[in-house]
Amino acid sequence: MTKRLYIETVGCQMNMLDSELVVGSLRRVGYELVGTPREADTILFNTCSVRQHAEDKIYSALGRLKHVKDRHPHKIIGVLGCMSQKDQALIFKRAPHVDLVVGPGQLHRIATLLEEVVAGSGARMEVSLDRADGSRQEIEQSFEIYDPLRDAPMRPTPFQAFVRIMIGCDKFCTYCIVPKVRGPEQSRPPEHIELEVRRLVDEGCREVTLLGQTVNSYHWCAGSRTTRLADLLCRIHDTAGLDRIKFVTNFPKDMTQPLLEAVRDLHKCAHYLHVPAQSGSNQVLRRMKRGYTVEEYREMLARIRATIPDCAVTSDFIVGFCGETEDDFQQTVELVRDGRFKNSFIFKYSARPGTKAFDRYTDDVHEEVKRRRNRELLALQSSISEEDNRAWIGRVATVLVEGPSKTGRRDNDDGPITQLTGRTSCDRIVVFPGNRRLVGQWVDVRVYDTSAVTLFGTVVTHQAGPEVYTLNVVPA
Ligand code: SAH
Ligand code: SF4
Ligand code: F3S
Repeated sequence: MTKRLYIETVGCQMNMLDSELVVGSLRRVGYELVGTPREADTILFNTCSVRQHAEDKIYSALGRLKHVKDRHPHKIIGVLGCMSQKDQALIFKRAPHVDLVVGPGQLHRIATLLEEVVAGSGARMEVSLDRADGSRQEIEQSFEIYDPLRDAPMRPTPFQAFVRIMIGCDKFCTYCIVPKVRGPEQSRPPEHIELEVRRLVDEGCREVTLLGQTVNSYHWCAGSRTTRLADLLCRIHDTAGLDRIKFVTNFPKDMTQPLLEAVRDLHKCAHYLHVPAQSGSNQVLRRMKRGYTVEEYREMLARIRATIPDCAVTSDFIVGFCGETEDDFQQTVELVRDGRFKNSFIFKYSARPGTKAFDRYTDDVHEEVKRRRNRELLALQSSISEEDNRAWIGRVATVLVEGPSKTGRRDNDDGPITQLTGRTSCDRIVVFPGNRRLVGQWVDVRVYDTSAVTLFGTVVTHQAGPEVYTLNVVPA
């Protein structure tokens, strides 16, 4: 009998990939995906613990399901992902109607666990060891790299895919819960990654995004040979049929020159680097235990600009971290002003039980002040993004067409011509009218208008006749 599955995902790209893989493995044992919890007999939440807000969202969604479970006791409710690893049995306490709690290091067991719950085992919980609860090897083993067969229909588009190259994190930034909930840093063997990319490309995938919490720390040792991210890019680059390679997220200190040169020299590598700075103040960076000074970050930025002049760089910032003064904040403002990031994700500090910052420092910046600093930094970043995007007016962008645009939709959009969207190699979003047939293809779009987040354009028409049409290179 077919079982109907609904899954809701919050958090980062790792979680999106995990959800794709969970759906893939459940489809193989007879589940079909449905669009609402109402139609489902199994409801899964793939959760995130990075900020309090992400957890609150899930606990309220679980709360709303209580009466549903009362009326339909056979519906199964499962909580997966980072919050499962962090809160463990607390989830059953706060939401006793939950049947299943599975940490991100135990997702390979999902099908079996669900089967056991359906057979009447009662509530089940599978989580990995805590980072203090064993030897490095034992803890590593308790966080299994989840890498089953893939399921194309779950991806946002069939020609783009995430590929995990490593799991976990060993940086232990004091504010961050990720090392605790995702376990020790472990890289995947390059052969596995290569094979996965080849399979994806055989299925029609044209762009892969390599994933890791600190993706540029990737290293795999075999005998005396170490494969780093630059080497891995080189190996993947040879995959026939693959057009574009991206990777996120980079750790500033591990941004080596060979890596930058690989991105410059391998033409399939997107000229786009996400390298979060978090703060522009050395005092704050030290308390965050980021392991670099703002001078070192600026030097790295200069190295990126010198090596890959047209590279789009993006960043994350936390405002209102413990002890952040107005002066500290102004130094962050200066970094954003000078850095000219394509865009920045700006977060208000959220104290996370289980982190060093939670134990050692007081969350002493008022919510009001956090909100104001967030607003200010965002306004500055938006004005920079807008200004830099404006320089695109009149230029031609080469875009992988992802699908109909959600934001650019017009009322009469149901025919073959609709508002389409895609991204440039420097990760800029482009919206333009075009035939749905273009989805999955590369097109040249001449930009006529821009906003802080979007370039608007029209497809450059192909010339009929003897002239052979070739894709333009994005101008520097
Ligand atoms: N591994 C990535 C980021 C993972 S979390 C990296 O090192 O860059 C994504 C972003 O969430 C971080 O870059 C940080 O800006 C933010 N973040 C992490 N913990 C946070 C916290 N406790 N409060 C607010 N923002 C946080
Ligand atoms: Fe968190 Fe720092 Fe690791 Fe990123 S590098 S996941 S911010 S601990
Ligand atoms: Fe959140 Fe876990 Fe990603 S805590 S940001 S979903 S690794």
